[in-house]
Amino acid sequence: MHLHRVAILTGGGDCPGLNAVIRGFVKAAASHYPWEVVGLADGFDGLLKDQPPVPLDTASVTGLLARGGTILGTSNRSNPFELRTIVNGELIKVDRSAEAVQRLGTFGIDALVVIGGDGSMRIAAGFARRGVQIVGVPKTIDNDLPGTDLTFGFSTAVATATEAIDRLRSTAESHHRIMIVEVMGRDAGWIALEAGLAGGGDILLIPEIPFRVEQVAEHITARDGLGKSFSIIVIAEGAKPVGGGAVYQADATTTSQRRLGGISYWLAERLAAYVPHEVRVTVLGHLQRGGSPNAFDRVLATRFGVAAAHLVGHGSFGQMVALKGDEIVPIPLSEATHGQRLVPPGGERVRVARSLGVSFGD
Ligand code: F6P
Repeated sequence: MHLHRVAILTGGGDCPGLNAVIRGFVKAAASHYPWEVVGLADGFDGLLKDQPPVPLDTASVTGLLARGGTILGTSNRSNPFELRTIVNGELIKVDRSAEAVQRLGTFGIDALVVIGGDGSMRIAAGFARRGVQIVGVPKTIDNDLPGTDLTFGFSTAVATATEAIDRLRSTAESHHRIMIVEVMGRDAGWIALEAGLAGGGDILLIPEIPFRVEQVAEHITARDGLGKSFSIIVIAEGAKPVGGGAVYQADATTTSQRRLGGISYWLAERLAAYVPHEVRVTVLGHLQRGGSPNAFDRVLATRFGVAAAHLVGHGSFGQMVALKGDEIVPIPLSEATHGQRLVPPGGERVRVARSLGVSFGD
């Protein structure tokens, strides 16, 4: 089928590198293909409103490579298959996917490129099943998408968390304190593990390895015995104690997904009963998502954007671009929507950390 107009959208939480994908896609499309590129605003919300998409040409993507966030806007609350809507004071889920598909027709869009995480890829796969010509591009700071070795945004988030750990170390050392740094990552411990290794964290607590407060305290005491009167604990927001559950934020009902957060305070309260040190908490939160992508993420995002343009150009729909080794390859969207890529508890990185004397609190 001859393509006239291809739309691109960014869905889910933002992450450094989204604009670099948009730039790469638009530039490659302009160099190689005759179709027009347009941008949909605010993720899949752009298909639920009559607001027409914005034309994107090479002039409109100039200067985007280093820019954080997404010029298109995004939303992690706009799943057209299960749109959370308040009807008569009651929160219900409404399927507006047929309307979204129809709007693609109204807007004259022949193909759609979705840059997003697992939620967005599931929505993309749903639209593909309804006949929409779709290509996916994986993003998330969490690095938990199956099917791709890495997602862009992760490296920048790890760099931000590492810098924070470096800064906390000097003040922890001066005051002989225990510093707990809570990082994002949802149910995956990749950010905590990678930033913990890069920043030389003493105790790394990740969702894949449940921890015991007693073990954490024991490691702190053992460090004291070695003359190291401070400790840095890097804890993933999804980490949980043995036999316990993850900690969620109180206002979790406002989004489609329960929001993790607060496990660091939970731990700080309990540690106080075991160790004499002052225990302080830093929650990095959205600092890890904002700002300019680093060089690695700019390049990966650009490669993904260009590869997506060629998939569209070759009519290879129902696929997601992925990094395998050092190659960018297409994989079926279905492969990208099954399961979650978690840290293997017995994997090489965990073993390296243990060899350095790092405790996982287990
Ligand atoms: O998936 C990316 C992520 O930043 C997670 O690490 C975190 O749990 C979640 O999004 C936070 O989402 P929100 O921006 O809705 O608070």
